Amino acid sequence: MAIFLFTTTLPFLSLPTTTLNSSKSTLTSILTNPTTLHHFPAIAMNLCTTTSAASCSSMQHVPEQDSNQTERVANLIFQRYTSNNTNRSGKGTAIVWFRNDLRVLDNEALYKAWLSSQTILPVYCVDPRLFATTYHFGFPKTGALRAQFLLESLADLRKNLMKRGLNLLIQHGKPEDVLPSLAKTFGAHTVYAQKETCSEEVNVERSVSRCLQQVGVPSEESVGAPTTSNSHPKLQFVWGTTMYHHGDLPFDVSCLPDVYTQFRKAIEAKCTVRSCIKLPASLGPPPAIEDWGCLPSLEQLGLYSQNVSKGMKFVGGETAALSRVYEYFWKKDLLKVYKETRNGMLGPDYSTKFSPWLASGSLSPRLIYEEVKRYENERQANSSTYWVLFELIWRDYFRFLSVKYGNLLFHIGGPRNVQHNWSQDKKLFEAWRDGCTGYPLIDANMKELSTTGFMSNRGRQIVCSFLVRDMGIDWRMGAEWFETCLLDYDPCSNYGNWTYGSGVGNDPREDRYFSIPKQAQTYDPEGEYVAYWLPQLRIIAKDKRNFPGNLYIRQIVPLKFGTSSRHNKDDKSLGARRANDKGNERRWNRR
Ligand SMILES: Cc1cc2nc3c(=O)[nH]c(=O)nc-3n(C[C@H](O)[C@H](O)[C@H](O)COP(=O)(O)OP(=O)(O)OC[C@H]3O[C@@H](n4cnc5c(N)ncnc54)[C@H](O)[C@@H]3O)c2cc1C
Ligand SMILES: *[C@@H]1O[C@H](CO)[C@@H](O)[C@H](O)[C@H]1NC(C)=O
Ligand SMILES: *[C@@H]1O[C@H](CO)[C@@H](O)[C@H](O)[C@H]1NC(C)=O
Ligand SMILES: *[C@@H]1O[C@H](CO)[C@@H](O)[C@H](O)[C@H]1NC(C)=O
Ligand SMILES: *[C@@H]1O[C@H](CO)[C@@H](O)[C@H](O)[C@H]1NC(C)=O
Ligand SMILES: *[C@@H]1O[C@H](CO)[C@@H](O)[C@H](O)[C@H]1NC(C)=O
Ligand SMILES: *[C@@H]1O[C@H](CO)[C@@H](O)[C@H](O)[C@H]1NC(C)=O
Ligand SMILES: *[C@@H]1O[C@H](CO)[C@@H](O)[C@H](O)[C@H]1NC(C)=O
Ligand SMILES: *[C@@H]1O[C@H](CO)[C@@H](O)[C@H](O)[C@H]1NC(C)=O
Repeated sequence: MAIFLFTTTLPFLSLPTTTLNSSKSTLTSILTNPTTLHHFPAIAMNLCTTTSAASCSSMQHVPEQDSNQTERVANLIFQRYTSNNTNRSGKGTAIVWFRNDLRVLDNEALYKAWLSSQTILPVYCVDPRLFATTYHFGFPKTGALRAQFLLESLADLRKNLMKRGLNLLIQHGKPEDVLPSLAKTFGAHTVYAQKETCSEEVNVERSVSRCLQQVGVPSEESVGAPTTSNSHPKLQFVWGTTMYHHGDLPFDVSCLPDVYTQFRKAIEAKCTVRSCIKLPASLGPPPAIEDWGCLPSLEQLGLYSQNVSKGMKFVGGETAALSRVYEYFWKKDLLKVYKETRNGMLGPDYSTKFSPWLASGSLSPRLIYEEVKRYENERQANSSTYWVLFELIWRDYFRFLSVKYGNLLFHIGGPRNVQHNWSQDKKLFEAWRDGCTGYPLIDANMKELSTTGFMSNRGRQIVCSFLVRDMGIDWRMGAEWFETCLLDYDPCSNYGNWTYGSGVGNDPREDRYFSIPKQAQTYDPEGEYVAYWLPQLRIIAKDKRNFPGNLYIRQIVPLKFGTSSRHNKDDKSLGARRANDKGNERRWNRR
C-alpha cells in the first residue's frame, strides 16, 4: 500500500507538504485537520488489515471489459435514439452548461440548445469548490475514486460529442466566472443547463444568473423572440435527473406525500414517463475554437490516484453506462431475477449497479424505463422487472423531497426537527470509517466503500444503522463520509436515506434498527462477503466468520439489542415506539 506524499503544486488548493505517517495519531490529526485529508482510506487500511496482501480475489470491471461489446452496444443504442426528423430554425450561439447530465442521449439541455441556435458551445466547468471539503466535518468533498470516475465521464462525453460533430470545452474555474465570459466572447443568446435542487448547486445557479445579467450581447434572439438592440444572455433550465418529470406530478411538490407508497401510487396512476428525446445525428457545426482545453489530472485536483485492486472498478461515461444496461438486462439476462437478488452484497450481478452513472447523469432514468419496457415485451415481465422501476421511483421521491424540504434534509434534526443527543466521538467514528469495529459485516462494508467507492444498498442500511443506533454517532458524520467516497453520491438519495436511517426523516414510520447478527445470518450465511473483504477470516469456519469472537479484533461497542442472533428473530422498528411514545412497545418489522 502506498504512502502518499504531498509534493505537487496545485492550481486550486494549496496543501501543505507533509509526509503522512500511518499511525493512529496521524489518523486522528487527519480528521481534525481538513487540509491533510486526502487519501486516508488507503492509509487506514494499513492499520487493521492483519493478513498479507496475498489476496486471491481480483478486481472486476463494471461493465466487463469487452471493448468490442462496449462500442458496438453504445453505437446501436445511439442509433435507436437518433432522429433527423427535426428542423433547426434557431439563430446564433447557445451554450450548453454540462453539470450532472454528462451524456448525449436524452439530454434535453443539449436538444433545446440545438433547436434554438446555429452553433452549440458545450462547456464543462471544473469547479474548485467540488474539490474542497464537506460542510461540517472537513472530509474531501470529492474522493479520488469519484474524481477519477468524473474524469472518465468527461473524456467519454467529449468523445461522444465529437462523434456528433461537436466537442466539449473544458474550463477550470467557477461557472459564474467562466460562463459569462464565454457568453460574451461568443455572443451566446442563451445558456442551457439541467436544474439542480439542493442549496449548494442552486447558489451556483443564482451566481451564474446574476453574472450573466452583467453581460451585454448583440441581439440575435432565438426563434420568434423580439429583437432588442442589446440584451443579456438568458439562463434556461431544463428539468432532468428523474424518471417522472417534475412538470407531470399530480400535485404541487410542496404537497408531496410524506409516505413513499402514497407518492408512488399517485404517480403510477396519474403520470406517464416521457419518451426519451431523440437527437439528430449531427449537432454541428462546432464554434471555431482552437483549444478545447485539457482534463485536469487527479494531482491537479489535489488528489492522489487510488487504484481499485479488489472488488468492482466502475468505468465512467455514457458508453460504459449503456454497455452495463445491455450486459445486465440483455446479455446476462438478470433483470428477471432482480427482485430476488437485489439484497446481495458480493460481486457485480446481484443488482443493476446503474447508480454511479445515474448520479453523474451519464445514464438517463427514462432510457432505463424504455429498456425495461422493451425487455418486458421481448422477454418477460414479472415483479422483478417492475422492481427496478420501483427503486427508481424511490430515487425520484428523494429528489422531489429535496425540493419540498430544502436544507432541512441536511439539518441534524431532519425534516421533522427531531431532537436527539448525538455523539461525535472521534474514536468510534474512525473505527467505523476505517472498518475496525470488530463486527466483520460492518468492517467489510466500510472497506469495500473506501476501496471501490461502492457499497450495496443492504450494506448501506446496515452500516448506517450501526453508526447511529449502536454507536450513537451524529448521522451527518456518516453522511459526509459517504459523500466523500460514493461514486454514486447524490445529495438527495444520500441525505434522504441517511435521515430515514437515523429516524429523522420526513416519514416517522421509517425508523428501523438493523440487527447485525440477523442481517449476517440472512444475507451472508456462509461469511463469503466478509471473508472477501477481510481475508483473515477465510481460515475460520464459514458459519463463524460473522461471529469470530477472539479470532478477530475486539468489538468496539456492544450492540444495542444484544449480540446473539437467536435473540433477534427480527429487526425492530424504533419508529413505532417513538411515534406511539410507548416506551416498551416494540413493533417487529421485517427487514
Ligand atoms: C444510507 C444510504 C445512503 C445512500 N446514498 C445514496 C447516494 O448517495 N446515491 C444513490 O444513488 N443512492 C444512494 N443510496 C441508495 C442505494 O443504496 C443505491 O442507489 C444502490 O445501492 C445503488 O446500487 P444499484 O444501482 O445496483 O441499485 P439497484 O438495486 O439496482 O437499484 C436500481 C436503481 O434504483 C435507485 N435506488 C435503489 N435504491 C434506492 C434508494 N434507497 N434510494 C434512492 N434510489 C435508489 C438507484 O438509482 C439504483 O441505481 C443510499 C442508501 C442508503 C441506505
Ligand atoms: C511515524 O510514527 C512513528 C510512531 O509514532 C515515529 O516513531 C516515526 O518517527 C514517525 N515517522 C515519521 C516520518 O514521522
Ligand atoms: C466481437 O463481436 C463480434 C460480433 O458479436 C464477434 O463475432 C467477435 O467474436 C467479437 N470479438 C471479440 C474479440 O470478442
Ligand atoms: C434520416 O435518418 C435515417 C436513419 O436514421 C436515414 O436513413 C436517412 O437517410 C436520413 N435522412 C436524411 C435526409 O438525412
Ligand atoms: C422540415 O423541413 C422540411 C423542408 O423545409 C419539410 O419538408 C419537413 O416537413 C420539415 N419537417 C418537420 C418535422 O417540420
Ligand atoms: C495506479 O495505476 C496507474 C496506471 O497503472 C499508475 O500510473 C499509478 O501510479 C497507480 N497509482 C497508485 C497509487 O498505485
Ligand atoms: C421472474 O421470472 C423468472 C424467470 O421465469 C424467475 O426465475 C423469477 O423467479 C421470477 N421472479 C419473480 C419475482 O417473479
Ligand atoms: C441531551 O443532553 C442534555 C445534557 O446531557 C440533557 O439535558 C437533555 O435533556 C438531553 N436531551 C435529549 C433530547 O435527550
Ligand atoms: C433508504 O431507502 C430505502 C428504499 O430503497 C428505504 O426502504 C430505506 O428505509 C431507506 N433508509 C435506510 C436507512 O435504509
